Parts: sequence; structure tokens; C-alpha cells
Amino acid sequence: MRSYGLKFVKDQYEKYPYPSYDRRETIVIASWLKQRGLQANRIIDIGCGTGLWSIAFAMNGSHVTAVDFSSASLSHAAKMADECGVSITFRRADLFSLETSETYDLVFCNGVLHHTANARNGFRRISGFVDRGGLLAISLYNRLSPFRLAKFLVQGFGRGNIEARKLVARTVVSLPLSTEILAFSGRSQPGPSSSVREYISRDENLVDLLCHAHTSYHSVWEVEKWYVDEGFQFIKRFPSGSISAAILPNLVFYVGKRPGSLTSS
Ligand SMILES: C[S@@+](CC[C@H](N)C(=O)[O-])C[C@H]1O[C@@H](n2cnc3c(N)ncnc32)[C@H](O)[C@@H]1O
Repeated sequence: MRSYGLKFVKDQYEKYPYPSYDRRETIVIASWLKQRGLQANRIIDIGCGTGLWSIAFAMNGSHVTAVDFSSASLSHAAKMADECGVSITFRRADLFSLETSETYDLVFCNGVLHHTANARNGFRRISGFVDRGGLLAISLYNRLSPFRLAKFLVQGFGRGNIEARKLVARTVVSLPLSTEILAFSGRSQPGPSSSVREYISRDENLVDLLCHAHTSYHSVWEVEKWYVDEGFQFIKRFPSGSISAAILPNLVFYVGKRPGSLTSS
């Protein structure tokens, strides 16, 4: 398959490996995953970044393979896994050229596909790694979220330079209206940061959230159809519920299941 991995995205993560977190956060994420039934024996975390979610899965007892194309992110992840006392298999690879003889009970790809040149093709590619009866859990930025306004401002005034965008982003988040938008739809992921403001006080998180080199946006209806078109049963998304849950969040999680029974059970 042609690679839709982007060099300038890789360069961004070499300079700003994401996310910046501490041990407390791995515990919060591990419990968030358990509550949502996101557990399995064999898991591959594609675009694992600095390893927060891979470590949380491993703490919950899974065998985890973690893949990313950024060396800096993987080094950070390996160090954190060591600190947290878990064992993870790390691989450096572009998801579009990743070769594996195995299939997995859970393929997890959090906040990655929208940073490639073709999220739909990335989805097709990673869906091929799911075992029969296995789960495919992804998250993607939401096309309809009002939070995009903040990103448009940063991209517009900061132009193509990440350092300039950082300056603009710090200004944008200090505007009075930003407080409401940030609190309302800025971050749908769990974590111990008491607010989005605290979260983006760390440079790596600010760059990822607001100053990114490349981002695409997808509606919940579009993504749910991707699952069906690849032969999956769409199971759930979170936040879930009313129409506002499809419109407001900046990031939406999706879970689907490949029909059949797991070969590992
Ligand atoms: C927003 S970060 C998400 C990190 C992690 N999944 C998390 O949620 O904490 C996106 C990650 O995807 C990786 N990535 C982007 N495109 C990729 C590709 N084509 N192949 C492998 N990794 C990729 C980046 O290096 C980065 O670490």
C-alpha cells in the first residue's frame, strides 16, 4: 500500500513527543479503559506516541505491541514502561507499511489517523490487523466541533510555522471566549489534569491540540459508515447519547467488532 504517513508530522513528534504525562495518568487511563470494556488479551496500539495508553493496557494485564514512526516518542514510551514496571513490545514503523503476521483481539489507534494524508485508507489498513471477533477502537477529531474555531485561529495567524502557532495558541487560549469553548469541548479524553488549561500548560500537549502540522476532521456518521464498509459491526462511540454528543466534542472514540469468534479464546 502507498504510504500516507507524513514526514512533517513525524518531524513534529520527534521534536514534541506526545503526550507529556506522569505515572498517575496511566492509572486514571487504565481504569477508564476497564470501565468501557476496552480490554483484551492481545492488543496492538498503533501510533502509540509516548506510550500512555499502551502502558495502561499492559497494567490491565494485556500483551501489548506498541507501534509508532517517531523514535523520540518510542524512547520516551520505553522509559515510562520501565518506570511503570510493565513489559511492552515496541516497534518503529509507519502504519501504512507495518507488516505483521499476527492479528489482534483489539486494535487501538487513538488520535492518529487524522494526522495522516488519508485517514480513510489508514482505517482500512489497520482494520486488517483485527482478528475475527476482535475489536477496532479509534478516535478522530470531530468535523462539527466548535473547538475547531480555536484551531482555525491558530492555523490562520500562525501560518506554517509551529513555533509561531505556539505563540498564537497561547494568546487564543487566554481570550475570554476560549475559556468556555475549552471547557465545553476541548478534551474528551480522561486524565488527572483538572482542566484543559492545565493540560495545555505543557508544550507537547499544546502543540498536539492546537498547533498541529496536519489534521483532518470527520463526522460521526462518516466514521460509523467506515466500520460497516469494512465489514465490521459498529458497537458504540463515546461520548455517546444525544445529538450534542455528536456535535460538540473535539475528539470522538469509536468501537466496532469484526464478526466471528476470537482465535485466541
Ligand atoms: C496525537 S499522537 C497520539 C499518541 C497516542 N496514541 C495517544 O493517544 O496518546 C499521534 C501519534 O501518531 C504517530 N503517527 C502519525 N502518523 C503515523 C504513521 N503514519 N505511522 C505511525 N505512527 C504515526 C505520531 O508519531 C504520534 O506519536
